[in-house]
Amino acid sequence: MTIRLLGVCGSMRANSYSSRIAAITLDAAREHGAETRLLELNTVDLPTYNPDKESIDHIGLRAATEAVNWADAFVLASPDYHGSMSGAMKNFLDFYWAEFAGKLFGYICASHEKGLTVMEQMRTSVRQCYGWSLPYGVSVYGEKDFDSSGQLVSQVDRRLRMFARDVVVYGALIRTQFQADLFDGATETFAARYRT
Ligand SMILES: Cc1cc2nc3c(=O)[nH]c(=O)nc-3n(C[C@H](O)[C@H](O)[C@H](O)COP(=O)(O)O)c2cc1C
Repeated sequence: MTIRLLGVCGSMRANSYSSRIAAITLDAAREHGAETRLLELNTVDLPTYNPDKESIDHIGLRAATEAVNWADAFVLASPDYHGSMSGAMKNFLDFYWAEFAGKLFGYICASHEKGLTVMEQMRTSVRQCYGWSLPYGVSVYGEKDFDSSGQLVSQVDRRLRMFARDVVVYGALIRTQFQADLFDGATETFAARYRT
């Protein structure tokens, strides 16, 4: 299958490191055959999630939902804010649930530290929605890991490229199996509960 990979950038800042590393990851994913899109949360400007207003008509939300439904797998890129994912990223995740089931997520973080708690929180949110997670992520310290010409230092670049390759390969495997489980009538599978 040609995997459709959606990068989601959770920084509201123009020219954010999250956005730059998400774009580099998607470029590398295309080299492995993925179709890619980047959803910048600072452009769709989602309303604050309110369960009382689930059917709200909002142009940015419509664009985000169309992209989420298009995707077979995701790369979530968040800044590290107080050891957490950004509010924009959490707000984005709150809008969706069944849409994430049977899809692989990979996590990248713009952080001055390792970003581990940030990625762990995104992993927890995704797990609650029966999304699958790549076991490792990539953290980038923007001010140190980009050189003066704007290139990523080689060690981080290599890790990001490995990450992109693994998201494409394992994302396709998981999506293919989930769809088979969804449509082949087997009952002893978690996917059965997502049949409509
Ligand atoms: C409100 C706020 C809180 C932050 N908290 C942390 C933090 O807890 N740990 C850390 O390593 N960096 C922290 N940072 C630094 C950002 O993670 C860092 O600047 C990152 O590159 C921002 O991502 P962006 O370039 O994608 O916007 C914080 C920055 C802001 C604005």
